[in-house]
Amino acid sequence: MNAAITTLNMGMLGCGVVGSNVARLLQEDSGDFAARSGATLKLSKVAVKNLNAKRDYVPSEILTADANSVVTDPNIQIVIEVMGGIEPARELILTAIKNGKSIITANKALLAMHGAELFDAADKNGVDLYYEAAVGGAIPILRPMRESIVGDHVHRVMGIVNGTTNYILTKMDEEGSAFADVLKEAQALGFAEADPTADIEGHDAAAKAAILAGLAFHTRVSSSDVYCEGISKLTARDVAVARDMNHVIKLLAIAELTADNRVSVRVHPTLVSRQHPLASVRNAFNAVFVEAESAGELMFYGRGAGGAPTASAVLGDLIAVARNKARGVGCCADQK
Ligand SMILES: NC(=O)c1ccc[n+]([C@@H]2O[C@H](COP(=O)([O-])OP(=O)(O)OC[C@H]3O[C@@H](n4cnc5c(N)ncnc54)[C@H](OP(=O)(O)O)[C@@H]3O)[C@@H](O)[C@H]2O)c1
Repeated sequence: MNAAITTLNMGMLGCGVVGSNVARLLQEDSGDFAARSGATLKLSKVAVKNLNAKRDYVPSEILTADANSVVTDPNIQIVIEVMGGIEPARELILTAIKNGKSIITANKALLAMHGAELFDAADKNGVDLYYEAAVGGAIPILRPMRESIVGDHVHRVMGIVNGTTNYILTKMDEEGSAFADVLKEAQALGFAEADPTADIEGHDAAAKAAILAGLAFHTRVSSSDVYCEGISKLTARDVAVARDMNHVIKLLAIAELTADNRVSVRVHPTLVSRQHPLASVRNAFNAVFVEAESAGELMFYGRGAGGAPTASAVLGDLIAVARNKARGVGCCADQK
């Protein structure tokens, strides 16, 4: 293990479900992180909207309502963006990059819409831009795509990348329930948002599909390139017919190479044979199934959301970025 050789000051944009868990784990495991990264990681500024809300793991003196002061602070070297949304997150990340800060983000919607602009800026300024938490929560999928199988030829990626819809489809399959009833139950249990549109209409999965497709096929894909159809029109009868055929309906994000070597990216309810490994992915779990020329079939499975699982991915990125900084190297982690 490396002894801590330096202190890295970090700023965080947002301290909600994910950010509060990042702050908690940074506090609980600070010694481990220093040993693993070669640097003492110090959370020195956190931007939130409501300064009066109670934050268990963030001392009030490092809270600010001025997010711009985080991304322009000359003492901060790493910015963790867990505020979500498009603006002001995009503008803040660009400012941070221009100020030489490395970025860790969990923001799939932003990357799927403005990834090219952000990656170009990171590249130009020689800083890291890591985003493992943006797809599949805790599941290590982006780094394996970018590093472990980058020497292979990926033919197809199929993912169950939205826990809310997988929960609803599992209940419809196993209990024969109607879509509207399960949605209500999922909302009551906290598996679905009060406004579930982004989940049930497939928009969240489409953003993740764009990110996965970019990595799998070394190109840039934005969410507007993705064909998107959600599950809100599925009936109990559709699901029963699938069951009679020994299939299950899953909302899949599919990215594949077509016969004429184009990249097709789409999200839609899909009939999956009960023999396929994706059929056994139940409830709010996520999985990504990759078919590559030499590696063959691979499946990555785990918790696709939630504060602690997502924070785990953010912290993995943080240690990777801190190691790069401690060693004086950097790589933008571009999709291409
Ligand atoms: N939750 C998950 O399971 C999960 C999984 C994977 C990826 N993600 C991604 O992680 C990101 C964060 O998600 P989350 O669930 O943690 O969101 P959240 O609970 O809604 O937290 C958002 C945080 O950002 C702060 N914020 C929002 N706008 C701000 C502004 N203009 N200036 C300063 N602070 C601002 C909020 O402040 P207040 O606390 O004062 O309201 C809050 O602390 C999103 O991009 C999401 O897609 C989430």
